[in-house]
Amino acid sequence: MQQKTIETKITIYRFEELSEEYKKLINTAKEQTENSYAPYSNFHVGAAVLLENGEIVAGSNQENAAYPSGLCAERVAAFYANSRFPNVAVKALAIAAFTNGHFLAQPVTPCGACRQVLLETENRFKKDIPVLLYGTENVYLIEKVKDLLPLSFDSFG
Ligand code: THU
Repeated sequence: MQQKTIETKITIYRFEELSEEYKKLINTAKEQTENSYAPYSNFHVGAAVLLENGEIVAGSNQENAAYPSGLCAERVAAFYANSRFPNVAVKALAIAAFTNGHFLAQPVTPCGACRQVLLETENRFKKDIPVLLYGTENVYLIEKVKDLLPLSFDSFG
């Protein structure tokens, strides 16, 4: 028998410790929570994608009475970025969530489906995407999407 352990490195920052570029990206994700349509969950998520060309493309979660028809902020932002700039790699991604009158104290983490979609963007451009998960007390930095989805399925080999 053999065993294998997969570790995920998370670097934990306070917001003030981050670079100006990352602060701006997080602030954009925070602002985007205001555009969320979340009457069912009251959980307002914003995501901001920094592209290699310097553009920031952002999105928020959009819910629907037919629940599965809604979409998370991360996928709205990633698909929107790929639609506007189809051949530009993603340099970094930030996520923030607001509920019951405040941003979450601990970092918000993306769902499995969003991880899968973000991984495809990472693989497609063969470039690691650092992911910033915002919380008012801590910000998690994960160096690449692949770290968020061990043993993932992909068709790139
Ligand atoms: N949601 C996101 O947009 N991103 C996440 O990372 C977690 C969950 C949305 C989906 C749904 O609209 C609401 O938050 C509650 O799950």
